[in-house]
Amino acid sequence: MTDSSKTVQIRFLPNDVSVVATVGEGILQVADRAGVLIPTGCLMGSCHACEVEVEDGEAICACISAVPLVWRR
Ligand code: FES
Repeated sequence: MTDSSKTVQIRFLPNDVSVVATVGEGILQVADRAGVLIPTGCLMGSCHACEVEVEDGEAICACISAVPLVWRR
């Protein structure tokens, strides 16, 4: 579920592309809007083809992850 009243800035590296995203928006959707290609496979969280690393070093599957209000630390 997205919360259109809350937005965060997402920065994709190494492309160094920043885009405003709505809390709850899918990471793949945000990346696509930013023009960043994240490879995918199953789109169900099983194959890890879409795995990306977030700021704290945690690896997440972009296909099943949504933009949080704050990344966990
Ligand atoms: S595309 Fe397979 S885990 Fe995301």
